[in-house]
Amino acid sequence: MTSETRSDAYVAFEHVQKSYDGVTLVVKDLNLSIAKGEFLTMLGPSGSGKTTCLMMLAGFETATHGEIRLDGVPINSVPPHKRGIGMVFQNYALFPHMTVGENLSFPLEVRGMGKTDREAKVKRALDMVQMGSFINRRPAQLSGGQQQRIALARALVFDPALVLMDEPLGALDKQLREHMQFEIKHLHESLGITVVYVTHDQGEALTMSDRIAVFNDGRIQQLASPSDLYERPDNSFVAQFIGENNKLPGTIQELEGDKALVRLATGELIDATAVNIKEKGQQTLVSIRPERVEFKPEMMPAGAHTIGAEVLEVIYMGDILRAVLRVAGSDDFVMKMRNTLGQTKLTPGQKIKVGWHPQDARALDP
Ligand SMILES: Nc1ncnc2c1ncn2[C@@H]1O[C@H](COP(=O)(O)OP(=O)(O)OP(=O)(O)O)[C@@H](O)[C@H]1O
Ligand SMILES: [Mg+2]
Repeated sequence: MTSETRSDAYVAFEHVQKSYDGVTLVVKDLNLSIAKGEFLTMLGPSGSGKTTCLMMLAGFETATHGEIRLDGVPINSVPPHKRGIGMVFQNYALFPHMTVGENLSFPLEVRGMGKTDREAKVKRALDMVQMGSFINRRPAQLSGGQQQRIALARALVFDPALVLMDEPLGALDKQLREHMQFEIKHLHESLGITVVYVTHDQGEALTMSDRIAVFNDGRIQQLASPSDLYERPDNSFVAQFIGENNKLPGTIQELEGDKALVRLATGELIDATAVNIKEKGQQTLVSIRPERVEFKPEMMPAGAHTIGAEVLEVIYMGDILRAVLRVAGSDDFVMKMRNTLGQTKLTPGQKIKVGWHPQDARALDP
């Protein structure tokens, strides 16, 4: 598959499976290595098994099959509180009857730490999230974002080397979300901790992660850096799930190494880069990013070839213009244009030619 376990991994899942009912596998043969200090995000649609993986790593669920190791040590039978892992969950409520300070002190008391040490640690953790002056408040007296900060501080208060976060910003509005993304990223870097982060927001995954594991149906579809996932998706699912994507159905006409000639549904022939395509005659979906499509001849990349298109709609979006085109029988083909001074105006009904570099057209599994 796309992932393998390495012996020097800090966190390792090896052939891990999980079934809740003894029949269906919701995690299927998971192999994943996470390096020390890495920010790894599990991204995928609802029900794809992300939380289940995190819960197995935390120790709240047991793997049906396979091994999970932390710093080389198998942890399948180690209880959660002995794993030394910090956790933040979307609805991981703070204890309502305790003050902020008491909430943070609790995980330290459980670990048997004395009062003076506890006070120092609590203060330091609150300062990390800029909430030092809220120590005597109760959770009900805090905003959603402030509560989430306290939950973050509570996860960090006992200096864990590994922190798991499951949709920690899901309940926050966009602006606060983006601010907290920045804060979490900053804490990750300054503390040198390893973070395993779960989200179904691809923008969040792209901006925060060192690597992203894209989950679907209990399997990792691709494990790669944000730019690799976006630029070089391995399959149609990933191409579709990350960013906006045009897809043109066709048949592989010629195949030489990774160079393919594709006959589109309407008969046109286009060059494309073959990805996991096995043979001539195979059906394919050619994937092209909207920002890689060009219509002005002088801007066309060298080696591009063009295809006829009809403008259906042009949408003004401020920084960009988004044109919806009919291309090779598909009438939801999108081209994004920078809104520069003197950008050529397109009008609905206009016939144009669009083109792209063959490297930007990826012939994927249908
Ligand atoms: N405690 C449970 N008992 C039985 N089935 C469960 C349990 N928890 C999860 N599942 C099932 O396992 C599958 C994976 O669920 P999981 O919560 O891991 O998905 P997820 O990727 O985190 O989804 P979401 O983005 O909605 O949080 C789903 O089909 C879900 O219904
Ligand atoms: Mg979940």
